[in-house]
Amino acid sequence: MKKIGILTGGGDCPGLNATIRAVVRKGMTEYDYEMCGILAGWKGMIEGKIKVFDMKNVSGILNKGGTILGTSRTNPFREDNNGDPERILENIKKFNIHAIVAIGGEDTQGVAFKLSEMGVNVVGIPKTIDNDLPGTDYTFGFDTAVNIAVEAIDRIHTTAESHNRVMVVEVMGRHTGWIATFAGIAGGADVILIPEKQIDMEEVYAIIKKRHKRGKNFSIVVVSEGIKLPVEDSKDGEHILQSTKTDAFGHVMLGGVGSVLASMIEKGTGFESRCTVLGHIQRGGTPTAFDRILGTRFGEAAIDLIHKEEFGKIVVLKGNEIKSIELKEVMGHYKTVDDYWYDLAKVFFG
Ligand code: F6P
Repeated sequence: MKKIGILTGGGDCPGLNATIRAVVRKGMTEYDYEMCGILAGWKGMIEGKIKVFDMKNVSGILNKGGTILGTSRTNPFREDNNGDPERILENIKKFNIHAIVAIGGEDTQGVAFKLSEMGVNVVGIPKTIDNDLPGTDYTFGFDTAVNIAVEAIDRIHTTAESHNRVMVVEVMGRHTGWIATFAGIAGGADVILIPEKQIDMEEVYAIIKKRHKRGKNFSIVVVSEGIKLPVEDSKDGEHILQSTKTDAFGHVMLGGVGSVLASMIEKGTGFESRCTVLGHIQRGGTPTAFDRILGTRFGEAAIDLIHKEEFGKIVVLKGNEIKSIELKEVMGHYKTVDDYWYDLAKVFFG
């Protein structure tokens, strides 16, 4: 009986459990694999924290947020890695793991790719609320995050209208503006600011002033946490950071741009402005039906790839079809918001 390990790495997101359930159920019932969970992402593989699954472990989890396996942002290939990659290889041998299903975003898949280059049998499944992984039209988690942000924007409209305010809503998304663009379009934002587009504050003030001149006494601005705000000394602008710390993959901790932006807008337009930061609320709670189904389809396709011994690949969504591509194709770059989406959003600015 072959033993297959499954792990979830990086930030949690809705749909992870639906995906785990699909991998485990199909692996056990159709291929008679022994399925086991690797706890807390790559950390569990380094430390040998592995738990054998039975059907009961994956029962009743389809609708649950988070991940029953736990997660971490552990990078076994960081500079001072203390031999972590070798430890992973040792544990794979020790626990007799035939192949690993790695569910995660760019960082988790980056590790998966490096391990596959070292001969590990691995298949990737793309997840992230940011939707920034190349090669797939959508990652699961994104749809739920967008729906949460839209609900928040709908609620924020009430206060904006009642108090005649400009309400800035800061959403996640790291260095891409997918959540901001989709939530902004669906929530009727008057301005959407994303990292892919250079920010012109004079233009932002003009849009808001024009809107208020035509009798609309409130505005909604959706801003992605990863934009660079124009500041005096830097032509390209600067990120606003929560702290100077970086994570094991070298990512800065974004967050806080919304309140700086709200002050600038108040000064630049004369209209009272406030900011709401949605933060981790966007990653919490039950997944939408879309994310449950996408995770289920990805999980089912990933275990098929393992069965066919097509390792070093990642399952992706292309149009409405699940396909697979080489892991190396998703390495080293983000999928950014293209002009089609931003031009669509811009039609409704002001
Ligand atoms: O990648 C998902 C994400 O939620 C980003 O949108 C955000 O910048 C980051 O993770 C936050 O990370 P953490 O949960 O480690 O603070």
